Amino acid sequence: MDQGFTLWFTGLSGAGKSTLANLAAAEFRSRGHRVEILDGDEVRTNLSKGLGFSKEDRDTNIRRIGYVCRLLSRNGVIAISAAISPYRAIRDEVRGAHDRFFEVFMKCPLETLVERDVKGLYKKALKGEIPSFTGVSDPYEEPLSPELVIDSSIEQPDLSLRKLLANLEERNYIYRNGAGRGVGR
Ligand code: ADX
Repeated sequence: MDQGFTLWFTGLSGAGKSTLANLAAAEFRSRGHRVEILDGDEVRTNLSKGLGFSKEDRDTNIRRIGYVCRLLSRNGVIAISAAISPYRAIRDEVRGAHDRFFEVFMKCPLETLVERDVKGLYKKALKGEIPSFTGVSDPYEEPLSPELVIDSSIEQPDLSLRKLLANLEERNYIYRNGAGRGVGR
């Protein structure tokens, strides 16, 4: 059976987690892999409905996502998480439950995120209208040794995708482009 793994994105809101997760998912599928994305915003409307943004609730949210990723990945699926996952200890706890775990730190300076402000949340958070907003009024703990760091303030998504794919190919986590199912591992 194909081996799955968990691809875990972490980083501030707007840093590009969902964008790169979606690009990667499409590429994995085109190479014959089965893929599921657990996206922060979407998980919070179903699996984690009712949870807020206290440390306790975030930890619960991340543990749930990690649990589902473990179930999926051990059954041959590439499970992709795209939640902020601000606390290092919980990310490492999830990592510890996995055989194959690949963490991507989406690094992006706060100034850039505030400038972009795709969802308009940073403006509100800076005015104090959203309490405990990650990176503004709530902590974000950077990973100490992620498998990959992507700086989305200086790099276009297609280049980030290529870097990610090359890294995963090197580990034999994904089929090589054009190699087809069952080849390249
Ligand atoms: S996590 O901390 O538990 O990993 P998650 O990724 O699920 O967070 O949700 C983050 C999303 O919720 C953000 O992209 C943003 O749209 C929204 N959000 C609402 N309130 C907050 C907040 N206080 N801090 C961060 N994100 C928030």
